Amino acid sequence: MDLGRAFTPEHLDTPTPPEEEIRRILAVTGKVLLEDELNCGACGYPSCREKAIAVLQGFAEAEMCLPYMVEKLESVQEELTRANSELKDSLTTLQKTQQQLVQSEKLASVGQLAAGVAHELNNPLGGILIYSGLLLEQADKESRQAQDLQRIMAETDRCRRIVRGLLDFSRQTRIDAAIVNLNKILSSTLALVTEQALFLNIQVVQQLQESLPNVFVDVGQIQQVFLNIILNAADAMNGRGTLSVRSETSPEGDQVLVSFSDTGSGMTPEIISRIFEPFFTTKPRGRGTGLGLAIAYGIVQRHHGDILVASQPGMGSTITVTLPTAA
Ligand SMILES: Nc1ncnc2c1ncn2[C@@H]1O[C@H](COP(=O)(O)OP(=O)(O)OP(=O)(O)O)[C@@H](O)[C@H]1O
Ligand code: SF4
Ligand SMILES: [Mg+2]
Repeated sequence: MDLGRAFTPEHLDTPTPPEEEIRRILAVTGKVLLEDELNCGACGYPSCREKAIAVLQGFAEAEMCLPYMVEKLESVQEELTRANSELKDSLTTLQKTQQQLVQSEKLASVGQLAAGVAHELNNPLGGILIYSGLLLEQADKESRQAQDLQRIMAETDRCRRIVRGLLDFSRQTRIDAAIVNLNKILSSTLALVTEQALFLNIQVVQQLQESLPNVFVDVGQIQQVFLNIILNAADAMNGRGTLSVRSETSPEGDQVLVSFSDTGSGMTPEIISRIFEPFFTTKPRGRGTGLGLAIAYGIVQRHHGDILVASQPGMGSTITVTLPTAA
């Protein structure tokens, strides 16, 4: 046995891995440039490079790096927060759609009932009008009887108007459509109402988009929709405030939007959820029938459009009518 053999530490040395291999391992934890190497020692090795060598020698795991783990966790958390907020958005949209569905289902069934009642009442009311008219012709013009008959006729006429409103709401009236510009209908409707005393202290601001695309609508019916919305705005402002009327094309270009903003009382969410119901009114008896918006809803639905409401108590209201542009 040759005990004279000299000991050299080289025998215990493991050869240093090639530079590309070290770089490859460093890159796993994002250390590409020299300044990426933090040398914090959290992995148990004094430097990133030494840890990389240990990985190549099978003593450590490449991903075992605290700053890298923390960064990764943070990005996962960010991703989760984003996914969570997307989920919340979808839930809100879903709830809104569900509410709209319940609302339109409810209005559809109320509409069927209303249409039935209106049909049944239409003929007898017509009969009352004809026969009281005949009696009136025979009666002495100055007599008490003639006055009573005139009252009967006026009240019957009021009933006929309500019945007509119910038929309008329940989509029972025919559309006589033409290709028109909504700006024209808006201007003529506004000209009609702003002359009235109710509008004496109401400032009307018009922002009508030039070269608005045409729509295919029943002019008389859409005029009634606008009229009902404008009168509601005037009522909500108690005859004093600003009514802003705006027309524009939707971003996709397939709808025309007409909005009416008032500086009136505004509405609670409970009121908003009921405004399209026939006979829903918050106005005193004799002031409102509660048919204005129900009629407007029926008409707009029949034109494949929509009515949107944005309002808060004390903050005024914006009612937007959307109608498809003419093909
Ligand atoms: N611009 C508005 N601001 C505040 N509340 C409104 C507005 N428009 C509608 N409303 C509320 O909606 C209810 C229903 O309106 P709708 O036009 O259908 O009926 P009405 O105005 O009460 O009666 P009618 O139109 O038959 O005379 C109103 O009573 C009111 O409470
Ligand atoms: S924990 Fe990461 S950054 Fe710190 S020395 Fe180890 S490998 Fe380098
Ligand atoms: Mg009304």
